[in-house]
Formats: sequence, C-alpha cells, structure tokens
Amino acid sequence: MANAAALARAAEELEAAASPSRPPTRRARRAPRPGPDPRHGPRRQPLEIYWGQAQDHSALGTPYGNRFVTGTPAGEDLGLGHVVLPVPDIEAALDFYENLLGFQLRDSMKLPPQAVPTATEQRDFHWMHFLSPNRRHHSLGLYPGALPPGIVHFMVELETLDDVGRGLDRMQEAGVPIASSLGRHTNDRMVSFYAQAPGGFQVEYGWDGLVVDPATWAAKEITADSFWGHRWNG
Ligand SMILES: [Fe+2]
Repeated sequence: MANAAALARAAEELEAAASPSRPPTRRARRAPRPGPDPRHGPRRQPLEIYWGQAQDHSALGTPYGNRFVTGTPAGEDLGLGHVVLPVPDIEAALDFYENLLGFQLRDSMKLPPQAVPTATEQRDFHWMHFLSPNRRHHSLGLYPGALPPGIVHFMVELETLDDVGRGLDRMQEAGVPIASSLGRHTNDRMVSFYAQAPGGFQVEYGWDGLVVDPATWAAKEITADSFWGHRWNG
C-alpha cells in the first residue's frame, strides 16, 4: 500500500467485507454461496498486505549471470512473476480478488471435468481465471480444484530466451523432472517450461511475458493454453 493510512483503510474494508451485513457483489448475487473470509483469502491462504518496504538497492546477482524481470523498462513494478493457486470455490475466489482486492480479470479458460478431478461440484466444465493488480498479464491464476501443496505453480521471468534454455539445461543435468516441455502460452505469451519442484508443485521458468494496459484491456476467454509446446509429462 502507499502509506499507513491506505493500509488502515484496506484493513477496515476487508473487515467490513467479512461482516454478514456486507451487500453482495454483482457476481455473488448471481451465484449465492458462503463467501471466503476476506482476511485470509479463499481457502484460508494467508495474504500479506503491507506498506513501508525497506529496499536493498544492490543488483541481484546469481551464479548463472541471469536476472529476473520484475518491472518494465519505465520502472513500473510487475511483481516477482505469477502464482497459480488451487481454489475449490472458484466464484468466491474470483469475487475476493476482483471485487475486494481490485485485481483486474484478464482471461478465463474452460477446463474439462477430467482436468479438475478434485472439483467440489459436477459441472460440464470449470472456469479457470487469470488476474493481476499490475501491468503483468497475470500475477495470479485461480485453478478450480484442490491440490495438497496449496499451490499449483509459480512463475519467474528471465530477461532472455537463452537464460531459459540454460536453466532447462541445468535442471536436466541435475535430474530435476521436467513437468512440461518448452512452449508459448496464448494468454501471457510467455515462452516457458515447467520443472517439478520438491514439495509437489511446479516452477515455471519463462521469457517474453505480455505487459498490458489496464485502461484498455478487455477480459477474454482463451480456448487453448499454448500456441505450441507445453507437452505435459504424465
Ligand atoms: Fe503459469
């Protein structure tokens, strides 16, 4: 948040939203159901809201010479990358992040029932949503099911395609299982692969992610997750 007053206002708004007298949002009116506790996020995934971050201004160096993309050349913050979270109640989760936290919905995609074996309801298809509070195409993906690690994957973005290729070499040489081959996503245009990380979730290692203009963005439905590649192993 910008300052202490903004943080206090956010806390008040979230506390008020937790009240049973909270007027339902437009989406919640369409699909009435018990909402999440706004202080914790859907399925009690703790969410930290802060201000006054102390910054270390030295350049981050890695032993491999690569740097991570966390902002635009103009200095706008894009965050660390993105995270995809499992949310058994997809409508409540979308309501929380879109209407209470103010994230912008960027894309949605229909998943067939077999892609969501832990869905809490039988449906012909399940929506997956992609949102962000900044200009990165998505900082958050919402997967409409439960997964024990509590996270589906997180993504970090590299400055060059060569950085991604060298990372793939390192992981294969180290015997890390590659969960998905290199490919380019349709929604954020990211060229990436997925490695199976210890802990039961995946890490997406990518390059060339899409930066959007929130003022003119129109939310879309995508009908495939990749233009090419991203062949999943198992
Ligand atoms: Fe991703």
